[in-house]
Amino acid sequence: MQQPSHSHTFPLDPWRLREAGLDTANNFLNETLFALGNGYIGLRGCHEEGYSGTAGSLDGTYLNGFYESEPIVYPESAYGLAKTNQFMLNVPNAKGIHLWVGDERFDMATGALSAFERTLDFRTGVLTRSLEWTSPGGKRIALVSRRVVAFANKHLFAIEYQLTPLNYSGAVTLVSQIDGAVKNQEAGDDPRVGSAVSGPALQLVGIDQDGAFSSITQRTHNSGFTLVSAIDTSVESGGAQVRASSHQQEQVAGQSFGFEATSGEAVRLTKFGVYYSSRDYPEQELAGLARGALAQARAAGFEALCAQQAAYLDAFWGEADVEIAGDDALQQGMRFNQYHLLQSVGRDGKTNIAAKGVTGEGYEGHYFWDTEIYIFPFFLYSKPEIARKLLDYRYAGLPKARERARQMSHAKGALYPWRTIAGDECSAYYPAGTAQYHINADIAYSIKLYFEATGDLEFMAQAGAEIVLETARIWMGIGSYNREGQFCINEVTGPDEYTALVNNNYYTNAMARMHLNFAADIAGTIGRERPAEFARIALAAQLEGSEPAEWRRAADHMALPYDAALGIHEQDDSFLSKKVWDFASTPKENYPLLLNYHPLVIYRHQVCKQADVVLALLLLSDQFTLEDKKRDFDYYEAVTTHDSSLSSCIFSIIASEVGYHDKAYDYFMETARLDLDDTHGNTHYGVHTAAMAGTWMGVAYGFAGMRVTDGALRFAPTLPAKWQHYQFKIHIRGALLQVRVEPGHVEYTLLHGASLGFTHRGREVALTTAAPSVRINPEDAA
Ligand code: BGC
Repeated sequence: MQQPSHSHTFPLDPWRLREAGLDTANNFLNETLFALGNGYIGLRGCHEEGYSGTAGSLDGTYLNGFYESEPIVYPESAYGLAKTNQFMLNVPNAKGIHLWVGDERFDMATGALSAFERTLDFRTGVLTRSLEWTSPGGKRIALVSRRVVAFANKHLFAIEYQLTPLNYSGAVTLVSQIDGAVKNQEAGDDPRVGSAVSGPALQLVGIDQDGAFSSITQRTHNSGFTLVSAIDTSVESGGAQVRASSHQQEQVAGQSFGFEATSGEAVRLTKFGVYYSSRDYPEQELAGLARGALAQARAAGFEALCAQQAAYLDAFWGEADVEIAGDDALQQGMRFNQYHLLQSVGRDGKTNIAAKGVTGEGYEGHYFWDTEIYIFPFFLYSKPEIARKLLDYRYAGLPKARERARQMSHAKGALYPWRTIAGDECSAYYPAGTAQYHINADIAYSIKLYFEATGDLEFMAQAGAEIVLETARIWMGIGSYNREGQFCINEVTGPDEYTALVNNNYYTNAMARMHLNFAADIAGTIGRERPAEFARIALAAQLEGSEPAEWRRAADHMALPYDAALGIHEQDDSFLSKKVWDFASTPKENYPLLLNYHPLVIYRHQVCKQADVVLALLLLSDQFTLEDKKRDFDYYEAVTTHDSSLSSCIFSIIASEVGYHDKAYDYFMETARLDLDDTHGNTHYGVHTAAMAGTWMGVAYGFAGMRVTDGALRFAPTLPAKWQHYQFKIHIRGALLQVRVEPGHVEYTLLHGASLGFTHRGREVALTTAAPSVRINPEDAA
């Protein structure tokens, strides 16, 4: 595990992230941690005025799903390799507010800061910064700024900026601007950093400057999108006369406000900003939409926006909050993670959730399996309507997945891209990209979870079944029966990216078996319940009547490598015959291995980047005995580096299940504060959304032992020694269930819904409106 580059600590506050005193050494990191977003707009936590200090910085603004595309250049190409990359663009910086006190420009890297505090409040959704600064020339000012990215309107953000001269009366100038001269960061050698393209991607179409309104219109070259970024600024200066003038430079638009300030009297600037792109609306409507939205926001005012924001979050926490009493650091980490997930997740059916959300350029704004296997459960059980939008996004990508399947020589079916924004395969390194065919099963798995939790047959008939059937067919395309009659899936890569291009990856095969059976089941269900829809799907996919039986047969004969001598599931056919990595002689600084060894060196060894078989133990829980789980855990733990942030949460959950409570806690701690403590040393490039959601799974699946298998819900809760209690809620089958675990008892309460049945350590529990709550001893078993 990498060490954080600079030590940093935040006061432990269950509902806030607070920086007390400007931490210049961690400027880059804090820009990520204090980022604001609403699933569409992402504003890194950079200062409005910029910061000229020497610490690293990336003043990024992103729009989920707004991308440029570039041809991928392979010095040595091959047939079928991904042709075009898509990368999330750094869009115009509309936060900018510059301040001059007399002729001295405010910049925290100059003069003296006598007070500084910055707070991100998870309940209000407001980022507040307050400070006192003395200019090099001795002018002292107080500044309080508040920033909001509106949850209720994906296009809108706002800043309120209040300045009070403390020992100075005289000229003050405020400039509120949009800066369109922006570009993305270059990736260098680290594949996790950003895009390989340098130089500006947005070309200026025009600038519109009209009193308080300023806008910049730009166009992307290859992806062909138009973007309008616009602001509206107003100033309340008490009695002082304000001279407003337009402020325009080559790619900068805005307004400048000059006035004579009086010591002790506050001046307030309020700025609203919007982004509208032709990915969402016809190009000719963008400017009008931007103007209309700004006029409306201005008329409602900043306080109204704050009230709306707080109300949105109140509702969110009412459903999603996970309370952990007894460990403040964890409580803060948990809520910080949930808050960032909400900030990151696209919910318009056209966007998804990127590996780094909208907080940075790491992984280029791409969507991976992280969504379905790590993030989906959190939304499914906390905010099912958002989970549904994530599935809508996949349905929208089905035509491209079909196209990709043909490019990959599969005559039937659909193959989803390993990484993408708009549905095209963007992985340039196929051994750890396209070869991860398990993406198809991961998507099917999330649809299965959704269907079992919601019973939404309508969705299955309209979209879900079609995805499941089309993706299942790919297994028939790449798999074949060997001489022993086993169905083998060759030349794929499983979740563990330190092992590539193998035969019969256990995870892939076990998930494919689940997928094929589910496809056959759902074909039967939709055929029976919605024959007209089934006929539509069968026609679109040219499905033959014999196919479901073929899926069942392949599932029944699936090769699932098992080593009888060790009593463990083998990660793939060859894994156990490889040499074990020499961990003892690998210096700490050589981790993550991917930055220090050629892939072939890594692939030749038994060494895992992340959970692979161990993940199957969770997702297909009922297919393994506890003894199996223990042996697999022991074996794979010894060869896993956890170089991927997707690993620790899964090890924590299985450790809980097999009774390794200390390990469960330690792995959980690593996940829960992974970004807050920057344990992977790269949070400055963006948060790790999969690990963040892994924290939720660590509580629900880990400590509370929740599993949903073929629709059946069960719990087996334990209480970590350090905690007084924990509590969370889940939406399932139209009910809202609260689970509260305290020393000596577990309380299950039905908060909404007529009834709910589940098991607690095998013992049947039935809650109804008449008897909505039970208390059970955690150890009580059937
Ligand atoms: C992991 C993948 C993951 C990707 C994006 C990689 O480091 O190995 O499993 O999908 O990061 O988070």
